[in-house]
Amino acid sequence: MTNARALDSRRIQDWLKPLTKITPTLQVEREVDSTNSHLARLRADHRAVDIVIAEAQSAGRGRRGRRWISPPGAGLYLSLFRAFAGPVRRLETLSLVAGLAAAGAIERCCAIRPGLKWPNDVLIDGRKLAGCLIDLGGSAGSSSAIIGIGINVDFGGLEGPDQPWTDLASVTGAVPDRNRLAALLIEQLTDDLDRFDAHGFAPFQARWADRDALSGRDVVACGPGKTVVHGQACGVDECGRLLLQASDRLHRLHGGDVTLRASR
Ligand code: BTN
Repeated sequence: MTNARALDSRRIQDWLKPLTKITPTLQVEREVDSTNSHLARLRADHRAVDIVIAEAQSAGRGRRGRRWISPPGAGLYLSLFRAFAGPVRRLETLSLVAGLAAAGAIERCCAIRPGLKWPNDVLIDGRKLAGCLIDLGGSAGSSSAIIGIGINVDFGGLEGPDQPWTDLASVTGAVPDRNRLAALLIEQLTDDLDRFDAHGFAPFQARWADRDALSGRDVVACGPGKTVVHGQACGVDECGRLLLQASDRLHRLHGGDVTLRASR
């Protein structure tokens, strides 16, 4: 393990106490396949666990079927269960809110200012620092989600993902206390999810604009159904859709992946 301090549920609860009244049921594991999958199994088994955090994941899952590299002690791997009012289609922009919460918690913990690449990559200087994976559940009348967040903390020379990435130790020159980072993330996430449940994405639009790492950049976006749009990113609308000014018109994308366009 590369980190000085091991994850400890009691320490996390101690950090949480001055921040919030909530006392979530928290499970810290040495290793699981994926904290999202593990939490889903616990919930299916009627276990009242709200949050799972692991020191390592043997099969960490990223977006779009990718792997999330999760060596022991090198990151924070956290999943949180949450039920929402209303149907599952209301949760379309939940992943943006999760990205905002992760960026906010990192900023409070480490005094750095991460940006966001739509829909939910947390970046520093164009390199990926954290990501979010949402597993949705529910029916027409009610919905729930398992919100998984992975933050690269200290890879200490270990091999990382095959895309530009970084970790908190490299950015700040210090290894943060992951128990404190976990508490800040839980508090920020809980607070933001309450607001999202009550008001949808609209209250988050300005916060997004403040951290938007794509705004004004030339990008190529693959939307749902593999539609490809080339254009200039112009922020997100009040529904969290990516605004892309292409040569024909302004496009609004509500799902997909974005890559920066090579400069011509
Ligand atoms: C991405 O591709 O950007 C999403 C990465 C999400 C990784 C986190 S780590 C905790 C949770 N458990 C998983 O298996 N994935 C998420």
